[in-house]
Amino acid sequence: MKKLSRREFLARSTAGTVAAAALSRSPVAFAAPPDSPNDRLQLGIIGVGARVQSGLMEAAQAVPGVEIVGVCDAYRGRVQRAIARTSGRAKDYGDWKALLADPSIDAVIVATPDHWHRTHVVEALRAGKHVYVEKPMTLVIEDGAPMIAAAKASGRVLQVGSQGMSSKIEETGRDIVRSGKLGKVTMIRATYNRNTRSGAWLYPIPPDANEQTVDWAAFLGPAPKRPFSLERFFRWRAYWDYSGGIATDLFVHLLTSIHFLMDAKMPARVTAMGQNYLHQGTHEVPDTVNAVLEYPEGFTVNLSSTFNNEASAESGYEVLGKEAALIFREGQMVLKPENAIEGNHWVVSSWPEALEKAYYDDPKIKAEERPDTWPPRVRTRSEVYGEDGQDATFVHMARFFDSVRQHKPAVEDAVMGHHAAAAAHMVNLSLRQRRPLDWNFATETVT
Ligand SMILES: NC(=O)c1ccc[n+]([C@@H]2O[C@H](COP(=O)([O-])OP(=O)(O)OC[C@H]3O[C@@H](n4cnc5c(N)ncnc54)[C@H](O)[C@@H]3O)[C@@H](O)[C@H]2O)c1
Repeated sequence: MKKLSRREFLARSTAGTVAAAALSRSPVAFAAPPDSPNDRLQLGIIGVGARVQSGLMEAAQAVPGVEIVGVCDAYRGRVQRAIARTSGRAKDYGDWKALLADPSIDAVIVATPDHWHRTHVVEALRAGKHVYVEKPMTLVIEDGAPMIAAAKASGRVLQVGSQGMSSKIEETGRDIVRSGKLGKVTMIRATYNRNTRSGAWLYPIPPDANEQTVDWAAFLGPAPKRPFSLERFFRWRAYWDYSGGIATDLFVHLLTSIHFLMDAKMPARVTAMGQNYLHQGTHEVPDTVNAVLEYPEGFTVNLSSTFNNEASAESGYEVLGKEAALIFREGQMVLKPENAIEGNHWVVSSWPEALEKAYYDDPKIKAEERPDTWPPRVRTRSEVYGEDGQDATFVHMARFFDSVRQHKPAVEDAVMGHHAAAAAHMVNLSLRQRRPLDWNFATETVT
């Protein structure tokens, strides 16, 4: 029997996958292992916007054996620029259905606005492609289950793109948490603050954008019908139809990192408040959000973000344990041991003098409360960790292709992506309904 070339094999197994997925939801076997770990993988990209052109393309091109062969987008200018970034080698497929129909494409990046993620991911998996989808995985909680099911049924890799968890710092942080060095962690504080127009997603609109160069129907897709709007097209994060604003754009990064670090899945209870104080003319979504999330693992997370001041560091989070804290801020991680000293003098000094004296003569109290009587000792210092080398986006992308080639589960799989996004959606549901919400772990729904 003639040995199939890898390309022929993938083409056939892709066709088989589509048929199997259409007939039943039973798992479909992976394609045979590639001829060698360096075998070429043909990559297509659905949505070549800012994220793709300022990071993902370069990251994918840095992976040996990966070639970007096809793109599609709803704005012509971005297609042209993306093709130029492949030195003219990638083809413009015109639309995503044509790109997915090409059996020579092994994997796709989905980096469209959030309202498209479910359709693009499910259809790509049905077409037998491996998928790297940008965060947040979903626009609404209900998107999660069909995406997870499609990944399972296809046997293909679905990886979500919250790259922070692929940084060396977070990996090291997770080891520290697991080692027990922090003691019991009961509280995590996370912030994401900004104060610029671009920070609030009011990006400049390309001067050549108009009804000829922008495919409005392709952008809208599953979203409600609306008249043509360049603001909506280029600043979609400000509108509920396409985005969940601060919670799904920013908190979802923090939540993924927190879930990764703490081996946590979902908050059991979420309560949040949010207001649009200064951006009513341009944003439907709030510009200030505060949320509290309780986890069954026994800790609480405070999330807060405003677009109206960035005096406190722009973003970061603090994992607060009984013995030490881990503080992630500005690309660094600081392990800060607790050096708590008992201090009751202000209370005991109100006692009768003899009782105060007797209290402080007790050797146990001296050991706990009287640093001036202690033998000299070195105070435990903070440890500061930085990171050199490839940036987390490169590592996250390389891990995706590693999973594809080695048939390994994705580092950030559909379930993890779904849960991080679902926690963010609970923040929005709570602030919009003005009530606390519970997560039902059995049904994976909100009550
Ligand atoms: N991981 C990160 O750090 C990070 C950073 C930025 C953005 N993102 C995510 O990446 C995704 C894209 O964000 P962005 O900032 O690049 O937005 P963007 O608007 O710059 O890019 C989205 C692109 O999708 C195109 N598009 C819309 N509908 C389409 C369709 N039906 N078919 C093909 N193309 C279509 C648009 O024309 C646009 O060019 C979002 O989900 C966002 O949350 C992640």
